[in-house]
Amino acid sequence: MYVYEPGEDSYLLAEVLKGIKCRRFLDMGCGTGLQAISIGNAKEIVCADINKDAVDYAKECVKRGDVQRIEFVVSDLFRNIGGKFDVIAFNTPYLDEGEPRDLAWTYLQDGQDIIERFIRESKKHLEEGGQVIMLISDRGYEHYKKVAEEIGYSWEVLREKALFFEKIFVVCLKNRL
Ligand SMILES: C[S@@+](CC[C@H](N)C(=O)[O-])C[C@H]1O[C@@H](n2cnc3c(N)ncnc32)[C@H](O)[C@@H]1O
Repeated sequence: MYVYEPGEDSYLLAEVLKGIKCRRFLDMGCGTGLQAISIGNAKEIVCADINKDAVDYAKECVKRGDVQRIEFVVSDLFRNIGGKFDVIAFNTPYLDEGEPRDLAWTYLQDGQDIIERFIRESKKHLEEGGQVIMLISDRGYEHYKKVAEEIGYSWEVLREKALFFEKIFVVCLKNRL
């Protein structure tokens, strides 16, 4: 299956992650593994993707001598992921066009909005004081903000960029005290 080729969205998220140090890092929807390569420092990294070809690709690309343990998991969001993380990053498939099966681009999967599902499910995989850093577009922005705030997250925009057809945002979610 097609493995997402890093684009402007990937690099905008990667730029933020470069400055971050953490203990356990999850690269959700890893694709080629660019975000796992970019995270400033981590003791453990888990790369996960629903696409087995992406996970195999990431295995070849993510080589980090400074990380104690790197795991590669085929998983539909958190289904096969255990434990908690200090930082969870997801460059979401934020488009609503194209083939419904094109998982690299489309957030609508089996009639479900997987970005919303990701926000909800991330809650129980986040360490206290941890952060979710995700890339979304202006499509659904207000809805996702509402969902995140309803379940007790704060919402902070770290970066934004206008592209040709849409605006993209890197957003940080943290548990509100
Ligand atoms: C926009 S691409 C980002 C790829 C890479 N992280 C990057 O920044 O270049 C979205 C990725 O999410 C993965 N994905 C889509 N639906 C998923 C799901 N339900 N669970 C896990 N990964 C998913 C896709 O296979 C794809 O690799």
